[in-house]
Amino acid sequence: MDEGPPRIEAMPLYTNLDRIARGLAAQGIGPDDPIRPEQLFALDQWHYHGTEAIAAAARALDLGPHSRVLDIGAGIGGPARYLAHTTGCHVTALELQPELHAIGADLTRRAGLASRVTHLCGDALREPLPDAGFDAAVSFLAIVHIPDRRRLFERLSRALRPGGGCYVEDLCERAPFAPRDREDASRIVCANSLTSPASYAQDLAAAGFRDVTVTDLTPDWAPFAAERLAAWRQNHVAYARVHGEGAYEAQELFYTVIARLYGTGSLGGIRLVARVP
Ligand SMILES: C[S@@+](CC[C@H](N)C(=O)[O-])C[C@H]1O[C@@H](n2cnc3c(N)ncnc32)[C@H](O)[C@@H]1O
Repeated sequence: MDEGPPRIEAMPLYTNLDRIARGLAAQGIGPDDPIRPEQLFALDQWHYHGTEAIAAAARALDLGPHSRVLDIGAGIGGPARYLAHTTGCHVTALELQPELHAIGADLTRRAGLASRVTHLCGDALREPLPDAGFDAAVSFLAIVHIPDRRRLFERLSRALRPGGGCYVEDLCERAPFAPRDREDASRIVCANSLTSPASYAQDLAAAGFRDVTVTDLTPDWAPFAAERLAAWRQNHVAYARVHGEGAYEAQELFYTVIARLYGTGSLGGIRLVARVP
């Protein structure tokens, strides 16, 4: 029977969302308690190298209190809160999935950052964006889900003011995927636009971005993914005790597939930085 296209809400990373509340409860933080942003960092950064990666983006884009930043695929808002908290910038955190959006808005309010982070629930391919309304755009591990990347970049280049910068970290294809691996990338990772780094950069250039730099992060991310899986398995009993076996297994499946796809040499990681002229 045809199962239809993979639904993003069913992707293992986006299930068992009560893990956030349970993780906070394990730190003694109740459902409506205030939260210090630092207490969230272990839970709300859904990309590689946690807040270090976001700090690097803030430096590269030279963000400060006057910067207006758009975060594409904001998840539960971890990168947006970190940027606002550490640089004082204002971030619009755009997220497709209503449940993630709602968790993000709640965490932002409780972290006292609601005046600097605006949560927006919508599709980055359709959500109205103000022309030249942002100084910078960031996206961490999200664009791979978006099928029409060229259109996304055209929208971004219009939404950025002249001279505005764009900073992206994402997955890519380093070598052709075997059919079974392509299937896993689609079903388990919900990858809708896995291409070569060159094609990724061409989409930015075609949308009008200039000074496009591409950095291959695979030598760093592939071992990170293998270590993440090993650490996950090591922590099995303790995690399942707090979150349940189902939640443990969902994430293990995701981490296992990612580690295997790096191992085949097909999956890679990249950073792209570019500027609107
Ligand atoms: C792996 S998560 C990363 C979340 C966040 N960037 C972080 O690093 O913590 C990718 C996010 O992109 C969101 N996303 C996927 N397609 C999107 C779209 N078309 N518009 C907005 N968000 C999207 C997903 O729902 C998911 O929350």
